[in-house]
Amino acid sequence: MQSHHRSSDPAHVLITGASSGLGAALALAFARPGALLSLAGRDELRLNGVAHAARSRGAEIEAAALDVRDRDAMAAWVVAADQRRPIDLVIANAGISGGTHGGPESAEQTRAVFAVNLDGVLNTVLPLIPRMIERGSGQIALVSSLAGHRGFPGAPAYCASKAAVKVWGESLRGELAPKGVRVSVVMPGFVKTHMTDVNDFPMPFLMSAERAAEIIRGGLAKDRARIAFPWPMAMAAWFVAALSPAILDPLLRKLPKKS
Ligand SMILES: NC(=O)c1ccc[n+]([C@@H]2O[C@H](COP(=O)([O-])OP(=O)(O)OC[C@H]3O[C@@H](n4cnc5c(N)ncnc54)[C@H](OP(=O)(O)O)[C@@H]3O)[C@@H](O)[C@H]2O)c1
Repeated sequence: MQSHHRSSDPAHVLITGASSGLGAALALAFARPGALLSLAGRDELRLNGVAHAARSRGAEIEAAALDVRDRDAMAAWVVAADQRRPIDLVIANAGISGGTHGGPESAEQTRAVFAVNLDGVLNTVLPLIPRMIERGSGQIALVSSLAGHRGFPGAPAYCASKAAVKVWGESLRGELAPKGVRVSVVMPGFVKTHMTDVNDFPMPFLMSAERAAEIIRGGLAKDRARIAFPWPMAMAAWFVAALSPAILDPLLRKLPKKS
């Protein structure tokens, strides 16, 4: 479905993890005539497919196969994109998750999750902050997760990386607001993508990536500090996080784990 665009929609949007799932849906949600989208992902074939679909909606596309863990390559790409046309909105979306395979999460996986979900976000956003401050405008969207409200036994590194992104974004919002730069933290519940396709447990209120992208676009247009959805999951996650560990931990141990 072609989305309905507003005159306030950003003219240049940079999105990481645009080769699939939520990032691909966001690219299509922001694609319109006159818009420039700078899109990154690792899988060139899938990224080009998304670029093609966004182009057919009238947008100009600059696609780059990049690993968000590569600090120098990311800085070079992000700054070049900003020089081409000032970036109105950056969406740090690339992320990975992993199950604990019935045992403790491996050291390797723990580091891999932090490298993509935390360092990858910093590599995307940090090169842009001084540039946005200098022109006194711009918007930063950090994709966290409702899993960032509280640590769950099935995904220690994932929850922790998302918590770090959430809290960093909250601080950044207050820090950058007086400079004219807006910051939002995005906290989705279950969204149907490659990431959740592997889950063999029930996922309450599972929603399509297209619907999630529209909610995010709407929240960013209103400059919401926290874009958490769907609301019943957002309420539940917030409530669970408020409980004492003495009550919560025994319950969490019974939750199904990502395999
Ligand atoms: N799905 C959910 O239920 C859900 C819920 C809450 C939050 N989120 C968050 O939403 C974001 C998008 O996830 P998704 O559900 O759309 O999953 P997805 O379909 O697996 O997409 C993940 C994207 O991140 C990219 N990526 C992964 N590692 C990368 C790396 N090292 N360098 C560059 N790009 C990399 C992938 O690129 P390639 O495929 O090209 O490698 C892909 O485009 C993630 O941050 C995730 O944690 C998802």
